[in-house]
Amino acid sequence: MEKFIINGGKILSGKVKISGAKNSTLKLMAASILADGKTTLRNVPGIEDVNTMVDVLRTLGTSVKVDTKNKVIEIDPKGIDCYEAPYELVRKMRASILVAGPLLSKFGEVRVAVPGGCNIGSRQIDLHLKGFEEMGAKYFVEHGYINCHIKRDKNGTGLSGNIINLDFPSRGATENIIMAACLASGETIINNAAREPEISDLTSFLNSMGAEIQGSGTDHIVINGVANLNGTDYEVMPDSIEAGTFMTVAGLCGDKIEIENARWKNLEVFYLKLKEIGVNISIIDENNIRIDRSQKAYKPVNISTLPFPGFPTDLQPIITVLLTITPGISIVTENVFENRFMYVDELNRMGANIKIDGHRAVIKGVGKLSGAPVRSFDLRAGAAMVLAGLAAEGSTEVSDINHIRRGYEDFEEKLRGIGADIRKIN
Ligand code: UD1
Repeated sequence: MEKFIINGGKILSGKVKISGAKNSTLKLMAASILADGKTTLRNVPGIEDVNTMVDVLRTLGTSVKVDTKNKVIEIDPKGIDCYEAPYELVRKMRASILVAGPLLSKFGEVRVAVPGGCNIGSRQIDLHLKGFEEMGAKYFVEHGYINCHIKRDKNGTGLSGNIINLDFPSRGATENIIMAACLASGETIINNAAREPEISDLTSFLNSMGAEIQGSGTDHIVINGVANLNGTDYEVMPDSIEAGTFMTVAGLCGDKIEIENARWKNLEVFYLKLKEIGVNISIIDENNIRIDRSQKAYKPVNISTLPFPGFPTDLQPIITVLLTITPGISIVTENVFENRFMYVDELNRMGANIKIDGHRAVIKGVGKLSGAPVRSFDLRAGAAMVLAGLAAEGSTEVSDINHIRRGYEDFEEKLRGIGADIRKIN
């Protein structure tokens, strides 16, 4: 089992370049199924979740060429002859279920393993299925799989557009329904849609394939179905969560860290919270920023995670690390996932003082953290452990780093590039 060994307390400086967004790439890969021709994706991050999505697409019969060096993936869906996302892959990566919308819409059927829970809580897909049903599909669950199909009418038309009101602005449900609606007949309206920038990346991608989608970035998205979509050539947007992670690294131990491709406007609420804490941030332009830790004491803040444009849940474990060494009492409320404080006990083993009260963490700032052996519970909690190790006195050993590999490209290399003392051992 690989581990990171971090010798903390170093002052870091230099440049970090943010990679392509995981949470966009995976959706664009799934959406490529909808095209009649080949699609080329650029700026694809070299992460484990992308490898899993390559496996999902290949299982379906899609031809996928991966050029790791140039960060390019070419996807040709013409060989698809299987409509199933199997349990081994869905269990590994929940986002595998995003092939459901494209397969259902293009081929009229799909079979996906029920995803089940994960380390951040129970994660339903009822809203995805309700959307498909409202577009005319039928489904049943049997032997751990959701079987979903649509009867084609005499004109060969499958799904039909409808008005879909989401009870919660789920990103996955919004994306699956958008993809399903692209080839449906007529107009689909999604009310209370998710508004994350990655949704806009998906709709720009689909529109470049010939789809007709409007309203992305708002909670009211309108899709006019078209008969077919072409392949396209598209560059994935930068990863906001990776940007937020490195912004926090800089707030913890940075001296003039420049972050390229930060697209800080996609993270405005997070950026404002860092400023409120007292981190020095200078905007260079809309893509690039410079950050230094403050010489003055940081101030405690209260944070509540919410769907975009609220504070992103994926950065909740990350900012909590900064709050552990911020004098005073900060309160972090998690509103999106039910079980996203599993990592807190690990931070407490490093000397943090955090108490959990339901879906709230009450953090009493301590002078400093001290290195200790800790575990990664999930992708973002794993990254949080690395950040804690960078800020701590002494040596920290982070185990289960396979979680971190799922979503951060060259994490330790990027950290070493700004002066961190981090190495991997087996
Ligand atoms: C995506 C991101 C993930 C991020 C999350 C919230 C990807 C690959 N993952 O996950 O990193 O943490 O958004 O910003 O893009 N829900 C239901 N029923 C549904 C769907 C969701 O109850 O049918 C609930 C979930 O259990 C969860 C909440 O809604 O509590 C948010 O889920 P959702 O926005 O769908 O997250 P994902 O798309 O799975």
